[in-house]
Amino acid sequence: MPDSTSRLRLVVLGSAAGGGFPQWNCRCPVCTLAWEGDPRVRRRTQTSVAVSADGERWALVNCAPEILSQIQAVPALHPKGGRRHTPVASVLLTNADIDHVAGLLSLREAQGFRLFATPAVQAVLRANSAFDVLAETVVTRHEVTLGSSFELVDGVSAEIFPVPGKIALYLEKGDVETRVEGEQTIGVELRAGDARIVFVPGCAAMTDALRQRLEGADAVLFDGTVWRDDEMIASGVGTKTGARMGHMAMSGAAGSIAAFDGIAVGRKVYVHINNTNPVLIDGSPERSAAEAAGWDIAEDGMEIRL
Ligand code: MLT
Ligand code: MN
Ligand code: ZN
Repeated sequence: MPDSTSRLRLVVLGSAAGGGFPQWNCRCPVCTLAWEGDPRVRRRTQTSVAVSADGERWALVNCAPEILSQIQAVPALHPKGGRRHTPVASVLLTNADIDHVAGLLSLREAQGFRLFATPAVQAVLRANSAFDVLAETVVTRHEVTLGSSFELVDGVSAEIFPVPGKIALYLEKGDVETRVEGEQTIGVELRAGDARIVFVPGCAAMTDALRQRLEGADAVLFDGTVWRDDEMIASGVGTKTGARMGHMAMSGAAGSIAAFDGIAVGRKVYVHINNTNPVLIDGSPERSAAEAAGWDIAEDGMEIRL
């Protein structure tokens, strides 16, 4: 039945950054809580969201490696009629990272849908023959250009825009520019009627253009990878900073909490949260600080209805 009570619905299918939570090979302090069954933390799959205007036809934005269990967990995305059916009509990719594209390989059962991405990201998929399992006659590939507006799924328009970021980890060679504004990392503005959600799961820095884009949005889902820039180093699990990975931290003078100061947004939600991030712990000082600044920490299954 069409849903007449809301104009735009968004379901967070997965809320963790690459690796998920807990990460399979990690005993950082936060993952250790999860492995020990501490009730202050809950498992999370990697970040994808589903959006719809009518509750019947849905688009996925990003397609995490866990997409099959993510679809199984959300009744609105279950097949509804006939022997073969899916409410999933399209998929939009915000970059070519493994945590955002690998799930496509599980949507290969001769099921048609539209696959939207920038020309640069489409080229990455085309260069990897594994994605040929999505025959282009069945899964149609649509190149969408920066700044263009298009119908993502019935009643939902999308406009994509560049945000500072980098190419996917597996494409890195030599020195890597981590704050490029181009086709490799994008955000998307989703509209249905006058409802507007901005989804930016990866972002290396706040810019004036981004600030203007965010202003007045009903909801923003934003890069919540790390609490502090040197978090993976401090947690003893890696050598990279958030900045090197193309992600601005939440805290600090250059962090996203400070960057959102003065931007009028209806609801602020962190997604793409790395397993080392202490905001994952209910009641932690970092969680309390984020909440005091008006942020929610996404969990799998969270829904926004406007
Ligand atoms: C990221 O968001 O930085 C990437 O998902 C890293 C990765 O590919 O593991
Ligand atoms: Mn990622
Ligand atoms: Zn961990």
